[in-house]
Amino acid sequence: MSVPVPDATPRSRATVQYETPRAAIHGPALELPRAIAHRGLSARAPENTLAAVRAAHAAGCRWVELDVQLLGDGTPVIWHDAGVRRCSNGRGKLRRLDIERARQLDVGSWFNPDFHDERMATLDDMLALLAACDMGLNLELKISYKHDPAALAETVIPRALAALPPSRLLVSSFDRNALRSARRQEADPHRLRLGLLYDRLPRGWQADAEALLASSVHLDWRKLKPGTVAAVHEAGLQLLCYTANDPATFLPCWEWGVDAVISDDPTLFASTENLGIV
Ligand code: G3P
Ligand code: MG
Repeated sequence: MSVPVPDATPRSRATVQYETPRAAIHGPALELPRAIAHRGLSARAPENTLAAVRAAHAAGCRWVELDVQLLGDGTPVIWHDAGVRRCSNGRGKLRRLDIERARQLDVGSWFNPDFHDERMATLDDMLALLAACDMGLNLELKISYKHDPAALAETVIPRALAALPPSRLLVSSFDRNALRSARRQEADPHRLRLGLLYDRLPRGWQADAEALLASSVHLDWRKLKPGTVAAVHEAGLQLLCYTANDPATFLPCWEWGVDAVISDDPTLFASTENLGIV
C-alpha cells in the first residue's frame, strides 16, 4: 500500500520522503545534513565537550552526535565511556561520581593542553548551547555496565524535548530497553524520532522498528551492504552510518543511498563530495 507523500519541501539525498505506510506514521523524513559531527567535532576538540560543539558550529556543522549517561547522583552528562580515565585527568567510574567531583576534572588536556579549562558538560548545559546555536542533536543513550536504561531515558528525554524542536532531535541507542523507555516518555513518533543502533542489521530489526516507532537505523559503515540500504529505505526508515573518516572509502555508501554519515570530521566529506554536506 502506498500513501500520498506530504507536499514536497525541496528534495535532496538527505531529505527523501518515502512513499510507504511508515511515511504516514512519521511524516516527512527528518531533514539531516549529509554529515553529522561525531561526539562534536572530535577531530579538533575533546570529544563530547562544549568546546567540541562550538568547534562543530564554527566549522559549519548543523548537527552533532553526542553520548549521554547519568552520574551516580543522577545528573545527566555528556560522556562516552563508563569511566573517566581515557578523557580526563582522573580515574574511576562515572556511576561513582557526583557533579561536584565530576566538575573538578580537566576533560580537555588529554586532547590538547589548550583545552585544560574544559569541564564535563551536563546535558542541560549542552542543550542550552545547541539551542542557542540552532543545531540539531543525535543524542545517543549510552548504557554502560550497571547503568539503568529506564532511569537514563526518564531523566534525559523530557529535558531534550523541552530544549529542542522535534525537527532537531534524534535519540538513538544500542540498548532496546533505553529506547523503549524513551518511547514511553513520548508516544508520538512525530514529536520524538528514535534511531536503532546496531553494528550490522540483525534479524528481527523490522520488529524492533515497528515496536519502537523508530524512524532511522544507524549502522557501522564498514559492515554495510548495498541491499541493506534498500531494505531500510523500503521499510520507510532513514539510514545513518557511523563512524567514517575517509570520504574516498565511503563513496560506495553514498551510491547505495545512505542518508547521512557520522564523522569525527564532517568537513572532510564536504571537500570531496561538494554536496553542502555539513
Ligand atoms: O551513534 C553512533 C556512534 O557514536 C556509536 O558508537 O561508541 O562512538 O558511541 P560510539
Ligand atoms: Mg555515540
